[in-house]
Amino acid sequence: MALYRASPEDGIAWVTGASTGIGRALAIHLARSGYTVAATARAEDGLASITREAEHLEGRIFVFPCDVMDEAGMARTVASIEKNLGPIVLAVFNAGTYLPVCGDRLETTNFVRSYRINVFGTLNGLVPISDRMRDRGFGQIVVMGSVTSFFGMPSAAAYGSTKAALNNLVEGLRYDFEKLNIRTQIINPGFVATPLTEKTNFSMPALLSAPEAARRIAKGIRGGGYEIAFPKRLVWPLKFLRLFPKPVVFFVMFRLTGWNKRSTGLRGRKRKDP
Ligand SMILES: NC(=O)c1ccc[n+]([C@@H]2O[C@H](COP(=O)([O-])OP(=O)(O)OC[C@H]3O[C@@H](n4cnc5c(N)ncnc54)[C@H](OP(=O)(O)O)[C@@H]3O)[C@@H](O)[C@H]2O)c1
Repeated sequence: MALYRASPEDGIAWVTGASTGIGRALAIHLARSGYTVAATARAEDGLASITREAEHLEGRIFVFPCDVMDEAGMARTVASIEKNLGPIVLAVFNAGTYLPVCGDRLETTNFVRSYRINVFGTLNGLVPISDRMRDRGFGQIVVMGSVTSFFGMPSAAAYGSTKAALNNLVEGLRYDFEKLNIRTQIINPGFVATPLTEKTNFSMPALLSAPEAARRIAKGIRGGGYEIAFPKRLVWPLKFLRLFPKPVVFFVMFRLTGWNKRSTGLRGRKRKDP
């Protein structure tokens, strides 16, 4: 039997982190292709404007404000979406945050928050929806990763490691989910212009707009392939670089990112002897 692939006739699409950026653009794209979409995030103003924007599309967007860090709240949100709109056949766990970390001023705060939102925030939705999909015997689950999951990158020790965790998590679950007729997919995009990337202070090669990223994600979701990674001009060189021994990777990344020329903040400070 072919593994299930979602379609608007079967039920609802749920997109987390749909108040801004990629999630918002994807929710609109899915509504345009006929899905009834449940859009979730915390910012009620962002969610209110998305419903207005979708008014004339083929499918409708309904909003369910919630915080992905609230485990019980996420379970209640899944129940509420299904009670009000019908079965979720496509769940896209997109909500996420990027908090840069600096090796010379290391604190746990940004790691904890990144893991709570990106990893546990995804799990808080994935657990209740996979229960329901298992009971129904079909479903499609898509999780947002990033090219920063491929290997460690400057300032991304927290962010990249959450995305690597998500890549591994989805891969591991695929072995069971496939037997339950639940299709799993991971999205690993390069740079997309959104409020999240506004915070970065480095150049972003091959930057895409959010609607273009959403178009590529929607195409990947329809196609059903396991990994949706784009743009190829960034993804392929990074995947190729990953094949090399680590000293080569560090050498190239130091130069590509200009990190070899950046001050660590330690200059001029006295090192404490152990
Ligand atoms: N932009 C890029 O270059 C890029 C590249 C690769 C992967 N990604 C990934 O793509 C996803 C979307 O990012 P984006 O670039 O579109 O950034 P964004 O515009 O900042 O969107 C992030 C979304 O996540 C939601 N969110 C954050 N914390 C939340 C929480 N605690 N509870 C519920 N929702 C929460 C935000 O909504 P509220 O704040 O309203 O809750 C917002 O809708 C993220 O997972 C990101 O890691 C982005």
